[in-house]
Amino acid sequence: MTIAPSLLAADFGQFARDARRVEAAGAEWLHLDIMDGHFVPNISFGPEVVRRLRAETKLVYDVHLMCTRPEILIEPFVKAGADRITVHVELGERVEQLLWKIRSMGKKVGLAINPPTAISTVKPFLKQIDLLLIMTVNPGFGGQPFIVETLPKIQQAFAWRAEMGLAYRIEVDGGINFQTAAECAKAGADTFVSGTGLFGQPSLKRAVTRMRQLVHKNQRTEPAMMQTPDLL
Ligand code: DX5
Ligand code: ZN
Repeated sequence: MTIAPSLLAADFGQFARDARRVEAAGAEWLHLDIMDGHFVPNISFGPEVVRRLRAETKLVYDVHLMCTRPEILIEPFVKAGADRITVHVELGERVEQLLWKIRSMGKKVGLAINPPTAISTVKPFLKQIDLLLIMTVNPGFGGQPFIVETLPKIQQAFAWRAEMGLAYRIEVDGGINFQTAAECAKAGADTFVSGTGLFGQPSLKRAVTRMRQLVHKNQRTEPAMMQTPDLL
């Protein structure tokens, strides 16, 4: 179970300080939302910001590309210090090549899916990924309410993982607070991106600790191996 605070909810004038705060709060990952003003109707920050932040912490840098042309951005973000890169399944026929490109650069491979997109679209790629990012809001802005209709997708991703004997992470992103994190953990999520839900709390450290406790308590366990009753 991993907590990944999202820098999108930090103070845009104090990214270095806030990245250090995330590390001091005991989180393992820093989620970095890259928006190009085209794939989503907002612009966030680019590789130079990530490069500047790389020296500030030892956190895992989890880069989420909400961009129309990730092919031109993967290499700059890898060079800037990304440990993991996620691209969207909505990019269609280019997805395969993008996943391969991330892998070929020695980084962990993530695939994201938006709320309106059918979960069946990710199935052909499951063997190639380290992480499936299930968006629980429509991407573009922090602080939106969790879309509860995304919970069955988490359950489906969890079931497929067991059926196919795979090990990808199931990450949720958008509207994740203490309550929705627990709901997602019950459905099968193991990696929790949270912006407003953590940065909006009086103590980031206490908030990370509490979210971690809640998701552990509500963690869904892998289905038990088929128990063959002892007939003799
Ligand atoms: C949404 C981004 C999220 C965002 C989540 O477009 O992908 O990572 O930071 O923010 P909250 O947790 O505030 O919904
Ligand atoms: Zn994100």
